[in-house]
Amino acid sequence: MYRTTSCNSLRPEHAGQTATLAGWVSSRRDHGGVIFIDLRDREGLTQVVFRPEENAELAQASHSLRSEDVISVSGRVAQRLAGTENPRLATGAIELVASELRVLNKADVPPFPIDSDSGNEDLRLEHRYLDLRRPMMTRNLKLRHRVTKTIRDFLDVEGFLEIETPVLSKSTPEGARDFLVPSRLSPGRFYALPQAPQQYKQLLMVGGLEKYFQVAKCFRDEDLRADRQPEFTQIDLEASFVTPEDIYKLVEGLLGSVFKAAKNIDIPTPFPRLTYQDAMNRFGSDKPDTRFAMELTALDDVFAASQFKVFRGALDSGGCVKAINAKQFASITTGQIEDLTQMAKNFGAKGLAFIKVENGEWKSPIVKFFSETEKAALTERLQIQEGDLILFGADRWEIVCEVLGRIRLRVLEIQRAQLRAGHTFAEPLPPHLSPGFEEKLNFLWVVDFPLLAFSAEENKWNAVHHPFTRPLAEDLSLLESGQFEKVRAQAYDVVLNGVEVGGGSIRIHEPALQSRMFDVLGVDAEHQQLMFGHILKAFSFGAPPHGGLALGLDRLVMLLCGADSIRDVIAFPKNNRGCDLMSDSPSEVDFKQLRELYIQSTAKKS
Ligand code: AMO
Ligand code: AMP
Repeated sequence: MYRTTSCNSLRPEHAGQTATLAGWVSSRRDHGGVIFIDLRDREGLTQVVFRPEENAELAQASHSLRSEDVISVSGRVAQRLAGTENPRLATGAIELVASELRVLNKADVPPFPIDSDSGNEDLRLEHRYLDLRRPMMTRNLKLRHRVTKTIRDFLDVEGFLEIETPVLSKSTPEGARDFLVPSRLSPGRFYALPQAPQQYKQLLMVGGLEKYFQVAKCFRDEDLRADRQPEFTQIDLEASFVTPEDIYKLVEGLLGSVFKAAKNIDIPTPFPRLTYQDAMNRFGSDKPDTRFAMELTALDDVFAASQFKVFRGALDSGGCVKAINAKQFASITTGQIEDLTQMAKNFGAKGLAFIKVENGEWKSPIVKFFSETEKAALTERLQIQEGDLILFGADRWEIVCEVLGRIRLRVLEIQRAQLRAGHTFAEPLPPHLSPGFEEKLNFLWVVDFPLLAFSAEENKWNAVHHPFTRPLAEDLSLLESGQFEKVRAQAYDVVLNGVEVGGGSIRIHEPALQSRMFDVLGVDAEHQQLMFGHILKAFSFGAPPHGGLALGLDRLVMLLCGADSIRDVIAFPKNNRGCDLMSDSPSEVDFKQLRELYIQSTAKKS
């Protein structure tokens, strides 16, 4: 027998009993011939002590133990002496006094210390199996298991069937590039890996399965970020005969059970709802972080007749003027202002006007253009006080919202970093600098997304969610009359603390409307048949009204773990260049393999 119990189970009440533990040597300390080892397994750490006075030979043998050696050790559980307990360890009041040691395997010196979070990420990813031994990673993967298990149980009770859909499939548009798989048996043809099981789940509804879910691997060839991987997991679900209200209720219940099981937190439901229009107007984002205000304030009326050409010009050409009040940020340095301005420019703004309120004075290159009435209106509208920094955007509505929305989040980041660095802010503290901010969980539904968005680059209309999303009934006439920009969709996103954790919609189930939607998206009749003939045909055989949603499992678990990146909740993630450093993939393949697939590479040898 390798072990009788785990490294996280022995407590003072077990003192005097014998136990056998197995695991990895986490650390070894020599206190004048007495050897202390922290033994680690998946569950935790236990201190093992080798005392020469109890067993001289064994104590001698323990000298050869090194970090990450795999051992099995038997002994007697003893209460630690007063003053030597470790309150940070669940087993910190006891130790195992060793009487028998078996070295199960020796370990080379690890390339980085396992019990520290420091170190180069590439090196960690190259040795991911070692990185996974870190208690943080083990904890994250356990929590991920708990979440998935809870979701399965919850949806089972709700009558959902877990059904697998193909991974070798046909391209389905979700806004990213496809990963393609060449077919050996059909030369010159390719499967696409699913960006989402969207069409299959709709076809399951046509198939009369009524309620489906899947823990689905999705593949998207897009630029990577901290919350994006080329291969990620969705909790994908779909149901027939449902309204958006049914989906909201289901998902609120689902997330409620997840937060209860994973964190023992009761989240308040129903979640607040915000239309896309309001989310953009107030927070400059379609996934607003509502844990703090710093809202975008409309100033169009204030500057309608302004002397300041930048603002007036934007308004005269149909744009808008908005501002945010960054409380207690008048201390911003010139360098920081320049950085924010550059950021604004990167998102399409022409500049970033500002006012600093210091020593009762408005310091700004632009206040000289403001009338007293304008100043009074600003003070009132933005609740301007000593220490504030006001940042303005004047341009097209989309640009102003996006830019100020991004600046709002950047200000949050900078000020939170200042707080961590020990900077003190004056009372009363704004919410984002107040204690308890990190613990807030602000869930929210963003609803009534636009159905379509015009791409100037491609000179065509694209689906904002995907082409299967249903327009709002009252906006159908706008679709018919070609007022595409005004058509709203029965689409919804669920957002937590500024992260889009899920999205979905009620779908089109009539072949004529689906075909009309493809027309609008510039897919001609021939291509509709080629690409979507199967779904149009399926809809003609009695498709029920249906809708659904997909949660990003990795993002959800990331938020539950308090991790900064979804890489920390995925066992074997890709790095930010899409590579698996451990197995060195993607990698070159044999010429013969390519020939069998009728593939010839045009890549230049590097
Ligand atoms: P959508 O494209 O919004 O919808 O995706 C749903 C959720 O999946 C997560 N997600 C990602 N997570 C990690 N890495 C990625 N690259 C990535 N891309 C998306 C997000 C997102 O909210 N078929 C529709 C759903 C539906 O309509 O039912 C879909 O895939 O958390
Ligand atoms: P200018 O008159 O171009 O020198 O701009 C005066 C101030 O207004 C500078 O601080 C600019 O950064 C800022 N500014 C210029 N254009 C805009 C704009 N579209 N929105 C907000 N601020 C702007």
